[in-house]
Amino acid sequence: MHETTQELTIRAATRSDRLAICTLLQQAWHSGGTARWDQLDALEADCGAVLVCRGTQTVGFCLFDLRAAPVARLSAAAIADRENVGSIWKELWPASEQHLRERGIRFVHYIGEAPWLLEVLQEHGFQQVNTLISYERTLEGPELSGHPHVRVRPARPEDLSTVEQIDAASFPLLWRYPRAMLEAALRSNPHLAIAELDRRPVGYALSTFEGEEGQVVRLAVLPEYRRQAIGSRLLMEALSHLRRGRVRRLSLNTQGDNTAAQKLYERFGFRRIGDELPVLEKALEG
Ligand SMILES: CC(C)(COP(=O)(O)OP(=O)(O)OC[C@H]1O[C@@H](n2cnc3c(N)ncnc32)[C@H](O)[C@@H]1OP(=O)(O)O)[C@@H](O)C(=O)NCCC(=O)NCCS
Repeated sequence: MHETTQELTIRAATRSDRLAICTLLQQAWHSGGTARWDQLDALEADCGAVLVCRGTQTVGFCLFDLRAAPVARLSAAAIADRENVGSIWKELWPASEQHLRERGIRFVHYIGEAPWLLEVLQEHGFQQVNTLISYERTLEGPELSGHPHVRVRPARPEDLSTVEQIDAASFPLLWRYPRAMLEAALRSNPHLAIAELDRRPVGYALSTFEGEEGQVVRLAVLPEYRRQAIGSRLLMEALSHLRRGRVRRLSLNTQGDNTAAQKLYERFGFRRIGDELPVLEKALEG
């Protein structure tokens, strides 16, 4: 690290900062998270970033996914090697909070394992609230048929509000799935399925695949209908859908404190993989 005399400036990023963000994220030792190009295309809309610049050089940034407002996710952050991490973060983080508040964000979370980032976030008021566990299995494995009288059908655009309600009844604010992502799921490759019992929508599942990799992204059953094998039925239907693609491996993840989901996935033969990732959260004041 060497000291430089040029002034620091802080500002919200625009789409023209995409390359600077990606370059710093790839090159800096102090970097964490991911920034997809399509995500950066949504800068100033579904995604926001705050930059610290020294002269014309970007020396630090925080990138946020804003699709689940009022909850934001810190998707990525990095600080240039020649800079002092603590000093830059002291400038960057208050400006980031201000940026988030202006965009209606009340909670921000980070899921990841970059040690330097965990440390600076904790120093700035974040607390670990959970962990994230990943699972995988192949398509050959145990299957439970699930509730025999539940009808599982593809969701239609007019089901979106219902799916949103099931999601809100099933997950705390931090884990809710934003409407925009459900809409996107209906428009593209993911498979959004809805479970009905006596014509009443009682659960939904969202699964997706790319090449041979499949993922069960969401699974939820209304609280009053749980433990009736409806989750099993939805999971089985999601597996059947993925089997019709060329999928060979399946993955999913869930919260470290979600015993119900863990038990369900383990009954279906999913095995835990990788380390548990810390989930940190901070409520924004004001
Ligand atoms: C996880 C969830 C989808 C399970 O749905 P469900 O319809 O209750 O699941 P099933 O009835 O098919 O349960 C199948 C098995 O999973 C296990 N299981 C499910 N819920 C459980 C619980 N609360 N405690 C312990 N084991 C549980 C049991 O082994 C169960 O079999 P059993 O009832 O014969 O003992 C449901 O609890 C839910 O919507 N939770 C909130 C949203 C969520 O956490 N989604 C998954 C995380 S991404």
